[in-house]
Amino acid sequence: MSGDRSAPVVRIKDLHKSFGDLHVLTGLNLEVHAGECLGIMGGSGTGKSVALRHVIGLMEPDSGTVEVFGKEVAALSAKELRALRRRVGYVFQEGALVGWLTVEDNLALPLREQGKLSESEIQERVAEALETVHVAGAGKNFPAEISGGMKKRVSIARALITRPELVLYDEPNAGLDPEISRSINALMREVSDKLGVTSLVVEHRIECLQRVADRVLFVHEGKVMVDEPTESFFQPSHPRLRAFLGYQQEPAR
Ligand SMILES: Nc1ncnc2c1ncn2[C@@H]1O[C@H](COP(=O)(O)OP(=O)(O)OP(=O)(O)O)[C@@H](O)[C@H]1O
Ligand SMILES: [Mg+2]
Repeated sequence: MSGDRSAPVVRIKDLHKSFGDLHVLTGLNLEVHAGECLGIMGGSGTGKSVALRHVIGLMEPDSGTVEVFGKEVAALSAKELRALRRRVGYVFQEGALVGWLTVEDNLALPLREQGKLSESEIQERVAEALETVHVAGAGKNFPAEISGGMKKRVSIARALITRPELVLYDEPNAGLDPEISRSINALMREVSDKLGVTSLVVEHRIECLQRVADRVLFVHEGKVMVDEPTESFFQPSHPRLRAFLGYQQEPAR
């Protein structure tokens, strides 16, 4: 799975995806380059999560292409797809922890599947990950026994535990209080800066994207309407984006 070294880490070209009569993605184009953190904003139901699912081959395009690490995802064999997924961390919008495993075992799972570390190294890595996301006391609990915000933090720790090259975050701040959001955003930025990890962050919260993203896209009606460096993205001239951000900021005024 070496692929073309000069290619962007993720390249989506003219992606279309429909569910029955619902044309969700209508020609989505985007590129994420090595080490970059790309933010994606857009209204609910515009297909942000659907786009992320294509990146790890959980969905296949109706037309258009999705290339990751220089290879077209839809053309990979089952074995190659598993190899791709091992290089990618995914923070699902709904958390998606395994309900019948403790928090510790949820974190250990991807490492055990990888089979590279000894059991004691795995335990060490798990303890370190729990500390990093401030849930050190919850290792023996089952997901149903911890709060929504804790589940979110555990799922972020699980996505990062294999030290992936690419991390996909689907609303990493949802369900977190402002203080924990700030610590999660700082962690995301650190992962991106220190480890050079490439990331794609779908998030509605302006503070999150201002903190973590290098560049932000605004997706509207299934395609990219605005693509700007973070600073100019949040001082927009595009009327649709202004309306979107203004509407979102209203309650705080
Ligand atoms: N597997 C599926 N089968 C049928 N429809 C689907 C499926 N997955 C997504 N959809 C539909 O596609 C549209 C886009 O969904 P998606 O989850 O990508 O939205 P989103 O942009 O992530 O929204 P939100 O901000 O609320 O998370 C929605 O109308 C959704 O109902
Ligand atoms: Mg979504």
